[in-house]
Amino acid sequence: MPDDCHTPANALLSTESATRTPLGPAASRLASQRWWDADAAQYHDAHAEFLGVDSADGEFVWCPEGLHEGDMQFLGDVAGKRVLEVGCGSAPCARWLAGQGAHAVGLDLSRGMLERGVAAMARGGPQVPLVQAGAEALPFTDASFDLACSAFGAVPFVADSAAVMREVARILRPGGRWVFSVNHPLRWIFPDDPGTPGLTATIPYFDRTPYVEVDDTGAAIYVEHHRTIGDRVREIVAAGLVVEDIIEPEWPEMLDREWGQWSPLRGELFPGTAIFITRKP
Ligand SMILES: C[S@@+](CC[C@H](N)C(=O)[O-])C[C@H]1O[C@@H](n2cnc3c(N)ncnc32)[C@H](O)[C@@H]1O
Repeated sequence: MPDDCHTPANALLSTESATRTPLGPAASRLASQRWWDADAAQYHDAHAEFLGVDSADGEFVWCPEGLHEGDMQFLGDVAGKRVLEVGCGSAPCARWLAGQGAHAVGLDLSRGMLERGVAAMARGGPQVPLVQAGAEALPFTDASFDLACSAFGAVPFVADSAAVMREVARILRPGGRWVFSVNHPLRWIFPDDPGTPGLTATIPYFDRTPYVEVDDTGAAIYVEHHRTIGDRVREIVAAGLVVEDIIEPEWPEMLDREWGQWSPLRGELFPGTAIFITRKP
């Protein structure tokens, strides 16, 4: 969720207030496109180094806890595999996968985020095709990828995450894996504060009404949608996929870096990220 480093985007979009209100798929998509276009520069000022956006070969960091695909191997051997990264932003993950021998494609709704990836690739390193599209309607044919992945891309921001699960299941070949990281659903119940105010539960876990920021005309300019752990599992299973594991990374002892609401203080007490490892039978 936005924090102080997003002040320029908030000013650009005239952010007026935060609220909880129902928001459907089209309005959510529009809000996300506006937000990520406006915030692309600040997002990268704050996080590009940690994510390895400008490293020559890209990097694949799954979450603020710093899990790297090179160590975790959630996707298995990617060499020669066709891999789709959903909500790729500037695509450091897709570029890293390409450096490992994968045929990787990055997809994102935001042109501003993708342009940051184009700029990084212009300096060299692995090159990947980038596609501007929404995750709820993937512009690819059935069974055209061996693997799909997402590091906090798209899934927390869409109104219909079940549609994303169905779309990913459709474009995967049988036996293919879909691995995605999102905010741990438990985080929803706490205020979005990395300090002590963020340790007291104030928001019902069962309330799926999205978090929405609106501009001075009342139009939504940022949205996050909540799903419980059970919701996520049901959406995956309804799409015809199998849940193989749910990873809840612990906060590393040596990591003193804050990332928005993620902090060592909160990380010591409860998880910030959930990584769903799924497979198409
Ligand atoms: C938190 S960023 C993560 C980006 C990248 N994975 C990273 O680790 O830096 C979320 C990304 O999801 C994208 N996104 C949001 N809604 C989307 C949608 N409906 N379809 C595709 N991408 C979307 C945003 O444009 C943004 O680039």
